[in-house]
Amino acid sequence: TNTYEHILTSSPKPGVGLITLNRPKALNALCSPLFTELNDALSKYDEDKSIGAIIITGSEKAFAAGADIKEMAPLTFSSAYSNNFIAPWSHLANSIRKPVIAAVSGYALGGGCELALMCDIIYCTSNATFGQPEIKLGVIPGAGGSQRLTRAVGKSKAMELILTGKNFSGKQAGEWGVAAEVVDGGHAELLDVAVKTAETIAGHSRVATVAAKEVVNKSQELSLREGVEYERRLFHGLFGSQDQKIGMTAFAEKKKPEWSHE
Ligand code: CAA
Repeated sequence: TNTYEHILTSSPKPGVGLITLNRPKALNALCSPLFTELNDALSKYDEDKSIGAIIITGSEKAFAAGADIKEMAPLTFSSAYSNNFIAPWSHLANSIRKPVIAAVSGYALGGGCELALMCDIIYCTSNATFGQPEIKLGVIPGAGGSQRLTRAVGKSKAMELILTGKNFSGKQAGEWGVAAEVVDGGHAELLDVAVKTAETIAGHSRVATVAAKEVVNKSQELSLREGVEYERRLFHGLFGSQDQKIGMTAFAEKKKPEWSHE
């Protein structure tokens, strides 16, 4: 049972938490109340010991068509700055420790593109439409797009996309490495692929999975040498986990590991 107004939550397979953005009349425009609900659902899945991976998706037509332009239109500098408008969006990137997969079909524009880029893995359909069109509204990306898209596609392409506001397709997202895979078919086939990967992730050691996500994310923040040292410390740390003993003993005994889920 869920009591949300703008999102749906479900568990399509054991260990998998699915969040579906559900504001169809506004193409899932990301109004503040929607984000409050999304953050709440993400936190609950992150704390839920039975969940190992999270998927965020939208509809066939729209993952999300951006921040809510009607909500933003009357904002002033003072109100945006004083209330730290959009800062709560960082909850996903800053605080959610379990892997999050974005399953994108249809529009992923502006804040929708940025939301996908905050996720750990993007899957999309070939006709998904990504873009950072904020320049056409007299603003710039505000939820990390200028930073994450640039890291994903390189400076020249990111400059071109952000300065022109032109869209790019799911097919291009795959070619450029923005998406891990471009799925043949529509939203249903896309979700199948996302759920399969989420199930695979949820079938691994929880503590090792959180550590793996943490170290890959460090590669975006640290120098190579610091990042490699950080990785080694966490690697060493995992020898103190039950799951390292369980995993390596099971290998030696040619058995399937039964993780502690600690
Ligand atoms: N905010 C608020 N409402 C939106 C919206 C948005 N970002 N995107 C779409 N909608 C609403 C439309 O206003 C429309 O509502 P009404 O029926 O009440 O008029 C409804 O959703 C359906 O949209 P369209 O009629 O426009 O549908 P379409 O199929 O003709 O076009 C579209 C689809 C090309 C995605 C078009 O809706 C569009 O261009 N949307 C805006 C995209 C955009 O500029 N996003 C960036 C927002 S800025 C941002 O995100 C800032 C940031 O970095 C955080």
